Amino acid sequence: MNQLPPPLSPAGRTRVLSEGRRLVYFGGCDYFRMASNPATLKAAAQAARLHGLSIGASRMTTGNSPLLVELERELAAFFKVPQALVTPTGSTANACLAEGLAGEFTHVFLDERAHASLQDAVIRMDCRVIRFAHRDPRDLERRQARLVESHRILLITDGVFPLDGAIAPLAAYRKVLRRAAWMWVDDCHGAGTVGETGTGTTELEGIPAARLVRTLTLSKAFGTYGGVILASKAIVGRVVRESRTFATGTPPPAPCAAAALEALRLLRTDPTIRQRLAATVLRVKSALTAAGYRLEPSPAPIVSIVPKTPGKRQELERNLLAEGIHPSFIRYPGGPPQGLFRFALSSEHSPAQVTALIRALTTTGKEEGTDGTPSPTDE
Ligand SMILES: Cc1ncc(COP(=O)(O)O)c(C=O)c1O
Repeated sequence: MNQLPPPLSPAGRTRVLSEGRRLVYFGGCDYFRMASNPATLKAAAQAARLHGLSIGASRMTTGNSPLLVELERELAAFFKVPQALVTPTGSTANACLAEGLAGEFTHVFLDERAHASLQDAVIRMDCRVIRFAHRDPRDLERRQARLVESHRILLITDGVFPLDGAIAPLAAYRKVLRRAAWMWVDDCHGAGTVGETGTGTTELEGIPAARLVRTLTLSKAFGTYGGVILASKAIVGRVVRESRTFATGTPPPAPCAAAALEALRLLRTDPTIRQRLAATVLRVKSALTAAGYRLEPSPAPIVSIVPKTPGKRQELERNLLAEGIHPSFIRYPGGPPQGLFRFALSSEHSPAQVTALIRALTTTGKEEGTDGTPSPTDE
């Protein structure tokens, strides 16, 4: 793709204006619509008045705002870890952590379909990188067997894979990995959305806190902007001391930090927000599975469909537009070259909007006189 897609303007919390049409929006990753919650907006506006729009310096020089320190304290409490470190973005959280861990490990095992920012981050780690088959603990085990006991191992994976919502089999990895091996989970899409208390895929998979580090973004479940590293005090200390990306980058603007604090408070104090999302995910995935789609069995709020032919793509697009839904067809690094429909469900979509999405996806084929079966996902 050599051109940017057409711009989209928000039109209310669940709709966008696209080329003159007001359409229901299932794109993006604002899973709780925190980006437009009145309470987060109020917090951001207050912070803008008090702190301005840009902190204007790296945290290692003069840019260490008290809002960031407070946000880190709240993030550490929410995610039940010793320390959180806020970085400019989720991608830079990966870069900063890799720079902080450089030299600590002799071998990294990386899921072959890990997020592009992880693929780039590991280059900074000064160790051998071994890619293993996507979500395959047996392949990991085979590859690990070739290493000797003295090798220091780190497994790196997405917690939720952003393109299809699949969850990494973290519990199976932990079983296979040597006791001394570490695990790094990029939980940009799992944080806030999955696990009993919303702390992500490590909670869902029952992964103990020992030898675990995580990276997150504030731009999805928390609706603002910025990245986060969750780790021990010692590892965060290493990142602060060693990472050039951390030392030279401007942190998220104060209004974003204030909005993230408010989003965390909302998620912690109002369990109905996450319950609404979970109910919508269950409803959509059950309906699509019953209609013949082969979806990833995952509680993540992501549904994706890879049309097998350009004709199928057009047909789905027509059905979605007929239901007043923006056809969120995307191309993304690591995804299928022909692109895919990716739908992000949110706690704020109404039951009628969800019904319309299900209808648009399940009438495909029948109306067009094809084989009468919906477009399956392309495995
Ligand atoms: C798995 C994963 N890691 C990292 C990122 C990057 O986060 P950010 O947009 O905050 O840089 C994303 C963003 O989509 C992601 O999906």
